[in-house]
Amino acid sequence: MIDFQELAKKYSTPLYVYDFDIIKNQYKLLKDAFKAKKSLICYAIKANSNLSVIKHLKNLGAGCDCVSIGEVKRALRVGIDSYKIIFSGVGKRDDEIKEALKYEILMINVESEAELLRVELIAKELKKCARISIRVNPNIDPKTHPYISTGLHDNKFGVDIDSAKRMYIKAKNSPHLNPVGVHFHIGSQLTQIEPIYESSKIVANLVRELKSLKIDIKFFDIGGGLGISYKDETLIKPYDYAQAILSTLSGLDVTVICEPGRFLVGKSGYFLTKVLYEKTNSNKRFVIVDGAMNDLLRPSLYNAYHKIEVLNQNQEFSKADLVGPVCESGDFFAKDIDLPKTAHDDLIVIKDAGAYCFSMSSNYNSRARAAEVAVENNQDRLIREREVFEDLIKQEEKFI
Ligand code: LLP
Repeated sequence: MIDFQELAKKYSTPLYVYDFDIIKNQYKLLKDAFKAKKSLICYAIKANSNLSVIKHLKNLGAGCDCVSIGEVKRALRVGIDSYKIIFSGVGKRDDEIKEALKYEILMINVESEAELLRVELIAKELKKCARISIRVNPNIDPKTHPYISTGLHDNKFGVDIDSAKRMYIKAKNSPHLNPVGVHFHIGSQLTQIEPIYESSKIVANLVRELKSLKIDIKFFDIGGGLGISYKDETLIKPYDYAQAILSTLSGLDVTVICEPGRFLVGKSGYFLTKVLYEKTNSNKRFVIVDGAMNDLLRPSLYNAYHKIEVLNQNQEFSKADLVGPVCESGDFFAKDIDLPKTAHDDLIVIKDAGAYCFSMSSNYNSRARAAEVAVENNQDRLIREREVFEDLIKQEEKFI
């Protein structure tokens, strides 16, 4: 049991706390589920890019899925082998492609015909042969929040099957491109297995066709997307997930790559914030805390639900909005929920805050970003210092 009061006292609030033992369990569950085939779990750094989190996963054997050269550098900085790093994303700058090629990462995941040409050109300049995979958009509805759905043709991600075929043939005939993988990712926070199975079937058939054209696909990258329970969602079990994918791969000698973000780190995280005060505006009750949308944006952006626990003994409950101090009506963690009567400095824990919470935080309203703490084997340690005012003005000060 993590002693949140103790941690809040020691590190102050707002504060992120990550249970590294949970991350470890999640990693093992997933890795184990795929044990019937060669597999590589490439952690999607975007979910939580703290160096210590990445290093923890590296120590467990993970590679990384990166969407910017910054993320590639984070992976390299903690010692992830370059052959375990994938560079994805719908728009990569020339300098990013150049650097990725120099680092000799496992593969660049190409998302358009235009990008394939860019990668070829840059590889040629560098006298290299770029290992690539192509992100296929299987046009399957993943049945998740529209903002985090990516596998439909009206999303900006990937290319359709026919374009992919053309691109693979082009890549095969280029001395500067080596098509080693295929990739799909249909969305995030997936809770239904059918769309994943359907997509995998479509993409596996593509791989069979490519093999018949002597294009030898070695890596079958199934993206990320496994959901977690925020409220009462029914979840896909890692074993069923793996079985569904593996059942589409019969006869194919490929390494399965999986790119989970949320599944690995989501449940490990807690956001700790303290009550500043309560107020009532024309009968509406607000509990105002020291954390805000700049720290944890998901409720404001997606109307996302996170469990909230007030650590006091008060049994007098009534409806309230839990809000932060930022000057936006959208600055809330929850609306119209039952909250006990609170007092100044009462501690509130917002759950399931390990994925897409700190990593989407900002300095809006010139608020310094929270500190981050890891708990492992009952020991806590700081893994990111709380920002101070000087950090916020560092890039500007010399110009005044
Ligand atoms: N691979 C690719 C190509 C992705 O685009 C993503 C996430 C992942 C892997 C990891 O997905 P995960 O396993 O974490 O579901 N900010 C949103 C989520 C955005 C997901 C973006 N892509 C949220 O807070 O729910």
